[in-house]
Amino acid sequence: MTILIKNGTVISATGADPADVLIDGETIVAVLQPGSELAASAEAGAARVIDAAGLYVIPGGIDGHTHMELPFGGTVASDDFESGTRAAAWGGTTTIIDFAVQPAGESVRECLDLWMGKAEGNCAIDYGMHQIIGGVDDQSLKDMDALVDEGITSFKLFMAYPGVFLSDDGQILRAMQQAAGNGALIMMHAENGLAIDVLAEQAVERGETAPINHGLVRRAEFESEATHRAIQLAKVGAAPLYIVHLSASEALEQVAMARNNGANVFAETCPQYLYFNVEDHLGKPDFEGAAYVCSTPLRTKHEHHQEDLWKGLRTNDLSLVATDHCPFCMKDQKELGRDDFRAIPNGIGGVEHRMDMIYQGVTTGEISLPRWVELCSTTPARMFGLYPQKGTIQPGSDADIVLYDPKREWTISVDNHHMNIDMSAYEGIDVTGHVHSVMSRGRMIIENDAYHGSPGDGKYLRRGLSQYLI
Ligand code: URP
Ligand code: ZN
Ligand code: ZN
Repeated sequence: MTILIKNGTVISATGADPADVLIDGETIVAVLQPGSELAASAEAGAARVIDAAGLYVIPGGIDGHTHMELPFGGTVASDDFESGTRAAAWGGTTTIIDFAVQPAGESVRECLDLWMGKAEGNCAIDYGMHQIIGGVDDQSLKDMDALVDEGITSFKLFMAYPGVFLSDDGQILRAMQQAAGNGALIMMHAENGLAIDVLAEQAVERGETAPINHGLVRRAEFESEATHRAIQLAKVGAAPLYIVHLSASEALEQVAMARNNGANVFAETCPQYLYFNVEDHLGKPDFEGAAYVCSTPLRTKHEHHQEDLWKGLRTNDLSLVATDHCPFCMKDQKELGRDDFRAIPNGIGGVEHRMDMIYQGVTTGEISLPRWVELCSTTPARMFGLYPQKGTIQPGSDADIVLYDPKREWTISVDNHHMNIDMSAYEGIDVTGHVHSVMSRGRMIIENDAYHGSPGDGKYLRRGLSQYLI
């Protein structure tokens, strides 16, 4: 059965043009000139015609960094693959890439199977996996090669969380050498975890236990030092490097310098770093700041981190925006750290809000309309080996299409979000622009302000190698 989307403006990474989009089954089959003979005959033969007048027609969002059901600090992220992917769909995201987790000493293969089991049959939208390597050793290095062949082509390492996930520099170098051999992308949580733990312990000894201290001890210097170190190790290991959740200007400078020198170094930032800060958010009284505890942390507003991050998004020193969606409820979860910020589970839920929050950058003139699509869909597809199946509206691509209403005004609240969290870090933010409807592989799953999909609609995506690597 064919569907024609007509009268809309198709936004791609390179432009915005009136065009009609013809879909057959799960696939886009043509992008047609409005009013042309081909468009007229497509309309005559279509089983359904959708009028997108006044709407943007964009490739579905791709969120390359989520953590459904992630165990963290004695609790588990509150969205499972079912609720989290449904919320993603509500927000115009039609693909997520989550992280399978291998703690040190455990088998990569068994951990991956566990994560695939959590996702399988539950997702509302298509999904891929990255693999976290918490224990770099001979076996896990070998496993990396096997996983690449199975479509898991990116591996996250940690320079933070000593005793949990931290890899030392030797382990990092070995993993990078392995990636240089198999073509995988090394994703790095770049913060000096050992140094952070010293400051954190000293803060608690002084009685400074409130959430704001999470941001104060995880200093920007520790992020930029680790980013610098990761870049140097990647140079020696001859591997491409992707810095996750970059929040500090100083770390961005390191990435920009490496890129100017021609290195295969990339970075993402997340909406929370573009909108929230230490003073107004992490510093909220009465433990409310706990909602904003994440790592890397929010940065201070009196510096110029947010301005620099938006600039990085314009200049491409920041390649894309992901959410690092890792939601915890206030009750029984964030509350675990009421007396000691170190026990607050790290993470913010935002998978539903990324497309809207980055679109606000279009309304304020920070980025162009095509750049919005590039940052949220096209580049993630290329970066993580999904292009052109995903991330673009062109013949042959999956019909993952969002109709976006650029005029609708609304206010984000826990009362209208669909994530499984008992509060919203984004509470009260006024937004211009809203998802109108969402198609996942040719099926309308969000339409008329209702969800029409089911768990299990989403399929696992075997990814190719990153298309940015030379
Ligand atoms: O605070 C965060 N980022 N939680 C999720 C785990 C990680 O490091 O990405
Ligand atoms: Zn991380
Ligand atoms: Zn993360």
